[in-house]
Parts: sequence; structure tokens; C-alpha cells
Amino acid sequence: MALKPDGLRWEQVGERLRAALGEADGPLSAYVYDLEALRRHAAAMRAALPAGFELFYAIKANSELPVLETLAPLTHGFEVSSGGELAWVRDRFADVPVIFSGPGKTDAELAQALELDVDALHVESRHELERLAWLARARGVAAPVLLRVNLALDGVAATTLMMGGRPTPFGIAADQLPACLGWLAAHPEIRLRGFHFHLMSHQLDAAAHLRLLAAYLAQVRRWRVEYRLEALDHVNVGGGIGVNYREPERQFDWPVFAAGLEALSAQRDGLVVRFECGRYVSAFCGYYAMQVLDVKAAFGGNFVVARGGTHQFRTPYAQGHSHPFRVLPVEDWPHPWPRPELREARVNVVGQLCTPKDVLASDAPVARVRVGDLLVFPYAGAYAWHISHHDFLRHPHPPQLYLPAEAR
Ligand SMILES: Cc1ncc(COP(=O)(O)O)c(C=O)c1O
Repeated sequence: MALKPDGLRWEQVGERLRAALGEADGPLSAYVYDLEALRRHAAAMRAALPAGFELFYAIKANSELPVLETLAPLTHGFEVSSGGELAWVRDRFADVPVIFSGPGKTDAELAQALELDVDALHVESRHELERLAWLARARGVAAPVLLRVNLALDGVAATTLMMGGRPTPFGIAADQLPACLGWLAAHPEIRLRGFHFHLMSHQLDAAAHLRLLAAYLAQVRRWRVEYRLEALDHVNVGGGIGVNYREPERQFDWPVFAAGLEALSAQRDGLVVRFECGRYVSAFCGYYAMQVLDVKAAFGGNFVVARGGTHQFRTPYAQGHSHPFRVLPVEDWPHPWPRPELREARVNVVGQLCTPKDVLASDAPVARVRVGDLLVFPYAGAYAWHISHHDFLRHPHPPQLYLPAEAR
């Protein structure tokens, strides 16, 4: 299921990179996406889900077209978080169900959602509700809505990135929900379909995530009774399932999680439960490769300086970890002078940016690394290229390369 280092297709990725080296007109940095691995992973995630649970893909994690084309038939739809993402999807996938979340939606984005047949809008505030009602009224339509709620739940363990249960800009604070529901009762231009929660990211513990979902469902049950909410049809439990970059052998156990959902099903009370996962869907299919430009030592530290950097692969900096990598030896050495190298060393891998923060891996053991070799970072298919500040220093953008999915 979740791909541990030994399950990755290093050989095929290496071949694709060697071919790219032959075509490059200078040192190479590149992304490779293994679409077959993506296809298998998403298909297995979906197949394990019991009836009544749906898997949407949060395209913010990686919205490259071949990635979306691979995922469209395997998921129940796409989650978008901006007008740009909505247009990107709708222009290319006319029939794929789309849900629209995210803070700070503009009037133009809300109107676009009404016009582009969005399945549900996840509303983040009372003012957003007012604006949406005004736009729906003008069009003579009823807007399908989930209220995103920020609530604190007893006994729920925190992860390293919390989006709720504390002061955050996300969702409607639970104490303001009664007033929102009262307002909605007088506004038929909003059709309340359910509730949306996304309280945390980086969840690595399947049992803890099941407990979180059970707490969401119990809360929805209480609200339905208390506010007589009979017409609801689903609950969106967000994404937030993590990828273990620090200990890649220990990944979130989706099969165990899916088996636990079966037991949770009685608590759905007939509601469909939707996931909108990003990281856990696409991270495993991506690789970022950097060609080594220099090796050097300073004040007892070893530095491997490589093509590209955190402006192309921001994930390690964003998450504060040392990203795992492998050295892919490249034998070609065109110069008459000896090839610089480090052997049996601990190294810091840095990029080309003029800042000491441009670090992708720290104190990592390597058997041998030479100028001209490629460093290949796995788990780079989510929140990697798409969260990076590409134009800092105006280095050339890396090619996005693909290993094709096998025809089905
Ligand atoms: C509302 C919402 N849903 C889904 C996601 C996707 O989360 P993940 O990629 O952790 O699954 C995010 C990510 O920030 C989010 O904010």
C-alpha cells in the first residue's frame, strides 16, 4: 500500500533520469512521476474503502495534468481550493465531481463555483455564507453547502500541524454554529448538505485517525438531533493523512484504517463520508533529482551542492525534516582534472540559493558521492513543486518527467 523505500521503482526512475541527462544542456534537476505507481496506489486505496465512504483528491498537493488524468477514473472527484484550480479542472474534466473549499474565497470564485456545477462548497465563515446566498439569489439557484466547523474534541491527539481545535483562520468556530444555522433556516438559497472538518494534517496513526472520525460522526449526530437537521446527506472529514518522511519504513496503514471504517459505518447514520486527501494520494509517486555541482567541507561539515534547491523542492524545508535520498551514480566525467568526491561521509545536501536555509538533507550518511552524480529524493509527488517559490534567483525550471501508467 503506502510505498516503503524498497517498494519504489528506483530502476525505472533511474533509467528515465539517465535519458534526461542525455537531453539536458547543462546540469540537471528534474521531477519524475511514476504514474503506474500512482495508479496502483490510488486504486488500492479506493478498493479498500467500504460502501458509504468516498475518496476525493485534493489537487493542491499536485495538479499536474498527467497526475489528474491518472486519478480522475480512480477517485470520486477532485477537491479544489481556488478559482484557478477550479478552472484548471473544469476546462479539462467536464464531468468529474468537484468540491470547493479553502479560506478567503472571492465573490468571483463563489460565482464561478455556482456556474461550473460544483457538487458542494465548503463555507468558511458567516460572511462567506451571506455573499454566497446573495450570488445564488441573483441566479435563482440554491447553493449546495457544507459548513466547515472548527471545534475542539476531547481525547483527540494533536499532530505536528493543527488546523482547528484552537485559534486558526479556518472554518466557523463551533460556538458560532447555532447562529449560522438559525440564519440558514431563513435562507433557502443555501442548501445545507452537511459538515466539513479538517482539523489536522500529518496524521501517521491509523487508530488515532479512526478515533478522530468517530468523534466527528458523534458530533454530527448531536447537531442533527439538536437542530433538527433532517436533510443532510454527507460529512466531509478532510484529508490530513501523513507521509512519514523521517522514518519511511513506517507509513500510515491504509488497509488497517479502511478495515476500521467498516466498524465505524454504523455511526454514519446513513450519511456519506467523504475524504479529500492530497499528500497520501500523490506523495509516493514523485521523485526530485538534483545533479551534484560541487562537494566541499567547512568547519567540520560536508556540503554537497546540487542543481536546483528548495525553490524547486520545498517539502523538506516546509516540514522541517531531512529528506531521504539515494545517490544515482553517473559515470560520465568529461574533464581532465580529478573528479571531486566524498566517501563514507555524513553530508548536508544544499541547493543553489544564496541562503543557509536552502538545505534538503542534513547529516545524511553516504557511501560515495561525486560531482556529476544524481541525488534522487523519493516521496516528492505532493506539496513539492507546487508549494515551491520557483522564480527565486530565476534558475531554469526542472522538467516534469513521467513513467507512464500501464493501459487498463
Ligand atoms: C481543507 C483541506 N482539505 C484537504 C486538504 C488536503 O490535506 P492532505 O494533503 O494533508 O491530505 C487540505 C490541506 O491543507 C485542506 O486544507
